[in-house]
This record gives sequence, C-alpha cells and structure tokens, in this order.
Amino acid sequence: MNDILPLVLVTRALPEGWLDGLRGRCRTVVGDAQTPGFDAPLLEALPDAEGILCLLTERIDGAVLDRAPRLRVVSTMAVGVDNIDLDACAARGIVVGHTPGVLTEATADLTMALLLAVARRLPDAAADARAGRWSTWSPTGWLGTDLHGASLGIVGLGKIGTAVARRARAFGMRLMHASPGPKPAVEAELGVERVPLTQLLAQSDVVSLHLPLSSDTHHLIDARALATMKSTALLINTARGAIVDPQALAHALHTGAIAGAGIDVTEPEPLPAEHPLYGCPNLLVLPHIGSATHGTRRRMAAVAVDNLLAGLVGSPLPHPVLPPRAPL
Ligand code: GLV
Repeated sequence: MNDILPLVLVTRALPEGWLDGLRGRCRTVVGDAQTPGFDAPLLEALPDAEGILCLLTERIDGAVLDRAPRLRVVSTMAVGVDNIDLDACAARGIVVGHTPGVLTEATADLTMALLLAVARRLPDAAADARAGRWSTWSPTGWLGTDLHGASLGIVGLGKIGTAVARRARAFGMRLMHASPGPKPAVEAELGVERVPLTQLLAQSDVVSLHLPLSSDTHHLIDARALATMKSTALLINTARGAIVDPQALAHALHTGAIAGAGIDVTEPEPLPAEHPLYGCPNLLVLPHIGSATHGTRRRMAAVAVDNLLAGLVGSPLPHPVLPPRAPL
C-alpha cells in the first residue's frame, strides 16, 4: 500500500509534529536537520521524487531538477524564493509554493527590534555594562538617535513593509516608501508617501529593506546608493543579504558615510566569523532570524505542507509563487 504513495524529499528534518500533515499521504526521505543542501540519501532518492519540501538553504536549480524527472512540486518553507530557479521549474511544469503571510508579523517585529537596537546602541551599551565599563550614569554615554519624528524609508511596501510601517507609525516616525507600484489604501491609512528610491535614500533617517532578491535588486544598495544617504542615517535589512553590497556597506560604516546598520541577512550566509563586516562600528548582525518564533515557524511548516500536498494531487497551490513585479 505504502509503495503507491508519492515520494517526497524533506531536505532538512523538522521538529516532531511540524510535518504531521504528510503522514499517510506520501513517503518521505528526510535530510539531516543541521546540514543544508542535498546529502547522499537525498541525492539517491531524487530520481523517484515527486515532491520536494525544502528550506531557503537549498538551491533548487536546473542541475537538481534534471536529476528529478518525476518532480511535480517544490514547496519551500520560506517566503523568499531566490534559492529556486523559477524559470527552470516552469520549463519542466513543476509548480512552486512558498509561505507568505504567516511570517509577516514576526519579521516586522524583528525589523523593529533591529531598528531600536541600532538607533539606541543596545549592543554597545549591553557589552559595556557586562564588561564593567558602566562606571556611572553619564549624560553623554551611549547616545543614540530619536525615532520619534525621524523619517523611515521603506523600500518595498509589501506585506512585511506595511507591517513595519504600521509599527513605525506607532513610534511617531514619518513614513515614505519606494515600491514598484502605488499602494493607495495603505498610503492613505498609514500616511506613507510614495517617492522615487533616490529621494527616499537621500531623505530618510532610517532605510529599511523589504523587497525580494532578484537580478533587479541584487546590490541595489551599492556604494552609490549608500553615498546618497545621510551621514546620520541607519540601514536595516531583514530581506535578503545580497540586496546590499557588503563591501560597500563596510566602507560606508568605516568612513562614517552612514551612522549604523542592522542586518538580519547577509551575503554570504552564514557570514564567516572573520568577515570584515564584524569589525564595523555600529553594526548589528543577526543570523537570519526574522521569522524565528515557535508559532511562526510552525505555521510556515503547515503552509509548506499544504502547498506540497496540493501540488502532489495536481490541485492549485494555496500559496503559489507569483511572477516577479517590475523593478523599482
Ligand atoms: C525568510 O527569510 C523567508 O524568506 O521566509
């Protein structure tokens, strides 16, 4: 009986219960929890796989797909799909699903956490306290930036960008966005002004990135873009590391071209411990934890399971990957 169930590769083992929805619906070959990519058992099973449930750590490209002639669906437990060659999937009739929506609030929370931490210099202040450098209350110690009244430039006013706008408004920030198209309802509700990217970069006290990585957005924030920012400005990135040129960012921080940055995503990932970015002043690096809450990760797994099961039986995916929007 089990032999007639479709074979699914789960590229990384997930905690007990997260994939319960697969039980009785497919056979699985499961990769190691800590090891990204396709290990030997996964590679061996690829020729028979009809579905893949992957994470953002797996590259799904033509070379992988060529080894999987029976594959019908790729379901990633992530909203970003830059690790998947969508054209190669489409050319083979393979549908792709992802997990938008369920991680919006958690990622917006983390964006605000980074923004607050960098604006108020929490890493420096906490390190000094712990190291015994807190000798007295100081009127000039650990001075940061006021958020109230500061302008926030949101690059990409999608679901997460909008959730960040809502939070930032409650902090009394002035809002603008640069996006491929207008968002009249959100703009009116939250008082967000749509401006060209160049204007957003030049006028924002904080720039926060919320757009997908594509060939159009790769190194969108390069040396030239950073040079147009205020020297007092902060850069926050919870989208994808490669949207920012890391060398240009390091240079901008070292030379004081911008005042600080908080990045949850890097290029490459993981960022090696010896990477020059770690030596930059007023830079907070997090290990890609935007969606890392118990509830959010469970919901992402449930959506990934729903997409996978729909794809296996040839039904429309609840959350298919949509074609990319025009560039900014
Ligand atoms: C996380 O970065 C995601 O794309 O879900």
